[in-house]
Amino acid sequence: MVLSKQVIMELPWNDPISQKFVTQVGLITSEGNDGPNIMACKWTHHISYNPGLIAISLGLRKATVKNIRNTKEFGINLCSTDQSILSSIAGEYSGSSYDKIGASKELGFEYYKANKIKALMVKGASLNIECKLFQEIAFGDYIMFVGEAIDATHNTEKQPLVYHDGKYWSLEPILKPKLQQREFIQKVIEKHKKIKKNT
Ligand SMILES: Cc1cc2nc3c(=O)[nH]c(=O)nc-3n(C[C@H](O)[C@H](O)[C@H](O)COP(=O)(O)O)c2cc1C
Repeated sequence: MVLSKQVIMELPWNDPISQKFVTQVGLITSEGNDGPNIMACKWTHHISYNPGLIAISLGLRKATVKNIRNTKEFGINLCSTDQSILSSIAGEYSGSSYDKIGASKELGFEYYKANKIKALMVKGASLNIECKLFQEIAFGDYIMFVGEAIDATHNTEKQPLVYHDGKYWSLEPILKPKLQQREFIQKVIEKHKKIKKNT
């Protein structure tokens, strides 16, 4: 018997399909043998409320992977709209060859000492979360580190930077429909309510 071969798709970087996703940019800070480091990570996701867990997916060869494996901790700093240059620096050079923290400081970006971890945290980010490593899971060609939040602060004056189609964007709210339209939508939904049959 010949089984039909299932086609498994790749979704490569820079592909028009991959580019359709909309993400934030996490600036992942870590500490290692080569000194403090920062990398850009669009795959930064809040995945649990209790306990507070955040997942980041990193390519195997990133210097940040080595740092997190050694220290079992990392900082998540959600990039704000005035930090797109910092995201580009953190995302285009590797900490194994460049002191990105030193370079970004010289360009005017600032850091502060974390409360509970050794890594530096990014000043002026829209959100800062200090994490202890909770779990490491390999998925495809990436490795997901799940961090447990142990300290967090948010900046009410800063908006998170958006990443989509290989470009940076800022958020704009979409207005809620007017009351009359919301009432009409509600009526339509009620009309489609499923009637449970008694068994
Ligand atoms: C906006 C942006 C988002 C990125 N997102 C990710 C990501 O989610 N995961 C990843 O492994 N690399 C991502 N990168 C690439 C890394 O940040 C880049 O390879 C970096 O040099 C790794 O740094 P390191 O070697 O010092 O850890 C992104 C780059 C940019 C510019």
